Amino acid sequence: MALREILKFGEDALRKKCRSVTKFDDRLAQLLDDLAETLIASDGVGLAAPQVGILRRVAVVNVRDERGTIELVNPEIIEESGSQTGNEGCLSAPNEWCEVERPNKVTVKAFDRHGNEFTITGKELAARAFCHEIDHLDGILFTDRVKKTLPGQGEKL
Ligand code: CO
Repeated sequence: MALREILKFGEDALRKKCRSVTKFDDRLAQLLDDLAETLIASDGVGLAAPQVGILRRVAVVNVRDERGTIELVNPEIIEESGSQTGNEGCLSAPNEWCEVERPNKVTVKAFDRHGNEFTITGKELAARAFCHEIDHLDGILFTDRVKKTLPGQGEKL
């Protein structure tokens, strides 16, 4: 396990559409381990591979509930409902928070590190985090979805 450097807004890697994972190998496991470790060390709730310069469809989410760190490989939102508007930040944009509207509940289809498909449903912060991280895999940043800029603080995803 190793901490990886988190790229900041302005880096090209954050604007790329990431490629799907095709090999569920040791390298993928290492990347997931590193993302999880870097996320915890950064006190965030989500981190996507392009934020550490790896242009693959991989992300981790940890909203500090009983599910711990959720690993998402090739994630896709397959269902969404409701809406929530709240304060959102990003580990790639320290000290910047904006009001962003997201679905209140989403179901994501993804693969685990071994290539097994699963679905997972998240509400509120978890739903926000799934949407935010999947956006990262398409080069979309939360500031693209801003309703208004806020002076306050919130979770870093
Ligand atoms: Co982010």
